[in-house]
Amino acid sequence: VPTRLYDFKVQTKRVTKLCNTKDIVTINGKFPGPVVYAQEDDRIIVKVTNKTPFNITIHWHGIRQQLSCWYDGPSYITQCPIQSGQSFTYNFTVAKQKGTFFWHAHVSWLRGTVYGAMVVYPKANVHYPFKNPYQEHIILLGEYWIKDLQEIEHSTLASGGAPPRADAFTINGHPGPNYNCSTNDVYQLDVVPRKTYLLRLINAGLNTENFFAIANHKLTIVEADAEYTKPFTTDTVMLGPGQTLNVLVTADQPVGKYSMAVAPYKSGRIVHYQNVSAIACLNYLGAASNSLYLPAKLPKLDDKLAVKTVMDGLRSLNQVDVFKEIDKNLFITIGLNVQKCHSKTPKKNCQAMNNGVLAASMNNISFVNPNISILEAYYKNKKGSYTEDFPDRPSKFYNFVNGAPNNIPHDTQSLNGTRTKVLEYGSKVQLIFQDTGTVNIENHPMHFHGHSFYVVGYGTGNYNPQTAKFNLVDPPYMSTIGVPVGGWAAIRFVANNPGVWYMHCHIDIHQSWGLGMVFIVYNGKGESESLPSPPADLPQC
Ligand code: C2O
Repeated sequence: VPTRLYDFKVQTKRVTKLCNTKDIVTINGKFPGPVVYAQEDDRIIVKVTNKTPFNITIHWHGIRQQLSCWYDGPSYITQCPIQSGQSFTYNFTVAKQKGTFFWHAHVSWLRGTVYGAMVVYPKANVHYPFKNPYQEHIILLGEYWIKDLQEIEHSTLASGGAPPRADAFTINGHPGPNYNCSTNDVYQLDVVPRKTYLLRLINAGLNTENFFAIANHKLTIVEADAEYTKPFTTDTVMLGPGQTLNVLVTADQPVGKYSMAVAPYKSGRIVHYQNVSAIACLNYLGAASNSLYLPAKLPKLDDKLAVKTVMDGLRSLNQVDVFKEIDKNLFITIGLNVQKCHSKTPKKNCQAMNNGVLAASMNNISFVNPNISILEAYYKNKKGSYTEDFPDRPSKFYNFVNGAPNNIPHDTQSLNGTRTKVLEYGSKVQLIFQDTGTVNIENHPMHFHGHSFYVVGYGTGNYNPQTAKFNLVDPPYMSTIGVPVGGWAAIRFVANNPGVWYMHCHIDIHQSWGLGMVFIVYNGKGESESLPSPPADLPQC
């Protein structure tokens, strides 16, 4: 197999943005980081050398890592972080996968600046299922803070409250003219009139779901999470952190400049996100250099219908055969809650809400990172760092009553724990996510490592097996699903990849608050399908 070699030096770089200069963590001094290119089935080898004082790991988001779990990247799940001065070589194939992916740091909030795109082309002589675009471009959505990101992470978690909003949203690292000192810090995409372009959209942001639109231009979605979809044309798309969409755009408007705009989608009760947007420029060849950008129309902050419209439009390109017999049925509540102050929380931090601190949980368990990697502990049969008792359903199901915080149940505590759920190799799993919460309900982009899943159903309110409608004919095959605010989503997957796999909300603050859990796919007996042995240079904690 062809091999793609990359050298990733983790290093700090001084950048000036928004009238402010600071050092950020980067790969090879680039922000956003270098693009990783490959073809379907290629081997990718990336040597990561850490030249910063911080711990780091890199995750290859959306790559299923079939039989290569040691290279997946989430810290304390499949590996210990690469410490300062150390290196680790990731080595995996993109088996049977192609499309738009991205890579990002997977430790603390470092992925706020440590991220980049990953493009996997079809094999030679294999064509896209649509007319070849004239050109392809990567559009990375991000967030930028003036203050040091690690300081923000630290102070947010110590405060028990919500994080501050990013100071700017960015497109390929550029905030655009809406922000201070950014008149010239604009991403420009030059287009030839009448040509069609493929845009690879990636939301690499930390904490914010985003709408994306281009003034006067339609977007035709042709791929979601690196799987082809039936072409679906829309004015605007929404991507939660961790989601990718390929869209076709034809330069079919009068010669001019059109804004490409990004603005937050906020499904909860957070209001300080009004009127902030990143702007890039779609620049027709021949447009006068001083012409103004035609403004893009974006849905309003909490436009759930716009989100649903995009979701309804996502269908697998071809008919698929989703299994109907289910071996394991899981019902998992996800959401935000309050933890009462306990011995470990300083008293002064317990004022966040109802004299508690904000937390998040799955089935009322707030995930806590262990201090060695779960995969290593599992492989070496070391007991003590995690348990195997993640529940199949919640012990209590708190119903959030919209707009009525007074109805918060008396006992809002979630339990801290490093709990995993063991799945037998080959088992057919249905998982219902139910959004809930005792302080707020929000859309949650739930991401699964090591597998893709069919999104067979979703809806608002509480999941009701009697009335829920499932699509087993052409559901999208994804690795991140935006579970509708106050609603549910049903996914199905076959646990066919031995290893230890993280499932979590891709909004980093939610993950920090504990919105995650871990599946262990037990490798059974089959020799070819057994758990691979760890690489020699695996970092130690
Ligand atoms: Cu892109 Cu565990 O995440």
